[in-house]
Amino acid sequence: MTTILSAVAWPYTNGPRHIGHVSGFGVPSDVFSRYARMAGHDVLMVSGTDEHGTPILVEAEREGVSPRELADRYNRVIVEDLHGLGLSYDLFTRSTTRNHYAVAQEIFTTLYRNGYLVTRTTMGAISPSTGRTLPDRYIEGTCPICGYDGARGDQCDNCGNQLDAIDLGNPHSRINGETPVFVETEHFFLDLPALADQLGAWLQTRTGWRPNVLKFALNLLDDVRPRAMTRDIDWGVPVPLPGWDSKRLYVWFDAVIGYLSASIEWARRTGDPDAWRKWWNDPEAQSYYFMGKDNITFHAQIWPAELLGYDASPGKYGVLNLPSEVVSSEFLTMAGRKFSSSRSVVIYVRDVLERYGPDALRYFISVAGPETQDTAFTWPEFVRRNNDELVGTWGNLVNRTASMIAKNFGAIPAAVSLTTADQELLASSKKAFETVGDHIHHHRLKAGIGAAMHNAAEANQYLSQQAPWKETDPERKATILHVAAQVVADSNRLLAPFLPHSAQRVHEALGGTGTFLPQPEIREVDDLDGGPSYPIITGDYTDQPRWASEPVVPGTPVPAPTPIFTKLGPEVVEEELARLE
Ligand code: MF3
Ligand code: ZN
Repeated sequence: MTTILSAVAWPYTNGPRHIGHVSGFGVPSDVFSRYARMAGHDVLMVSGTDEHGTPILVEAEREGVSPRELADRYNRVIVEDLHGLGLSYDLFTRSTTRNHYAVAQEIFTTLYRNGYLVTRTTMGAISPSTGRTLPDRYIEGTCPICGYDGARGDQCDNCGNQLDAIDLGNPHSRINGETPVFVETEHFFLDLPALADQLGAWLQTRTGWRPNVLKFALNLLDDVRPRAMTRDIDWGVPVPLPGWDSKRLYVWFDAVIGYLSASIEWARRTGDPDAWRKWWNDPEAQSYYFMGKDNITFHAQIWPAELLGYDASPGKYGVLNLPSEVVSSEFLTMAGRKFSSSRSVVIYVRDVLERYGPDALRYFISVAGPETQDTAFTWPEFVRRNNDELVGTWGNLVNRTASMIAKNFGAIPAAVSLTTADQELLASSKKAFETVGDHIHHHRLKAGIGAAMHNAAEANQYLSQQAPWKETDPERKATILHVAAQVVADSNRLLAPFLPHSAQRVHEALGGTGTFLPQPEIREVDDLDGGPSYPIITGDYTDQPRWASEPVVPGTPVPAPTPIFTKLGPEVVEEELARLE
């Protein structure tokens, strides 16, 4: 049994989540965490909404509300999106809690004391028409590295590099198009060059990362510069030093600390305030960080640097673990373009949930998501996968097995004597737990769900060959349907991390009662330190079905089934395409 931290990227509260977002951080982290719990590991899965920084300021300005109002609104919307998808966080919180502020400030203070945060005078952008500072993200221009002309002053979405606004070609304000002027301003910089050797040494010890991710992380070391960790804005975590009242911590400085602060908040809420330490101070504990590729820099460089700088002479949290693995997905694209709410190339999670349910989307992302390369989402493919695979292979297996059992026996029959074909199928189904488990453990979702679906497909083939509907010997008929019930039960476990909602229904279709898999819930809680109340996603995931074949129990009553998955008609594609125009 391993102690595993599932650290899931924090979505910005600047809008509802679209399916591109959840293909990066959401489904991959939940499949992994659910599997790891079933396999008996001690999982802590944390995240929250990322509510600071210019992404929030830009949207608040656009909507004409305060950043606080915007954050409050989209925090709730996002909590509903992610809960609806069944993401089983131990704690999904927010970055505006007092706990988070205190933890972020403790990390800042210790890094400062350890000499890794140094002040520097730099050039900041000012809007000539208002005289106010213009944060990097408000500035757009040409990327000095790849030449993409929609780069922002903080980062290029095309090549993923962090940028300085002053380096952009043809810089202009995203608010009113004017050309900014650059003036001197003082900031705290994270001394990355001082940590570069340690960062490099740490990356050299990383094994099993997706090759693109490790390559990207290693490349970052070619150009290590101090990075500004404060901003001239008034929304964010205050800099915990006198004389810095007009500035705030850079959103990425505090956001990555969220993994730690959420773990601490979770522990405080359980009544054992030190319970988080097991995931952070024990060097044997593992940590997996899930995200889309535009987040790699911050998780493979900035966050490890913060941790190394903290660990150099730790404060009250002790020596903190660095990431075991940065698990980054590529982009889900649409007609070759990255999903983007601002460019209205978008399919919202809540719409898909409402129309097709959570497991159809989870299935698609698992089987056809952007695991190791940019991948296009298309509605015809969504409908085809749903109809041919979810309905045609899996739903059909469950349905025909349950209905034949219900009709012929009314309950799961006992096997009488097993033929070679029976034994082979049972053995390969049992073995699938190793195969599928190994794939999921190593973040190979496509291979994992492929192997699980293969198990179901083999059972379908077995049924066609054995043709229990033609069988005249009642003992043989009972044996075939017993074997089929066993493989349905096995496949349901193998698919449960991917399809946790239908897993309950399949469990019931075979006469199971009670909760098969624990699910997350939304709970309204008080801020632990006197701030406003907020909704969290949490759950009690103690009682898990084991990650192994468990014998079905002969005599369990099996009702006549109702279909578990829904076939989608061709009109769905037309309707959805019309919505995108
Ligand atoms: N809010 C960021 C984004 O959507 C992700 C932050 S991940 C965190 O790209 F860990 F830093 F919070
Ligand atoms: Zn670029």
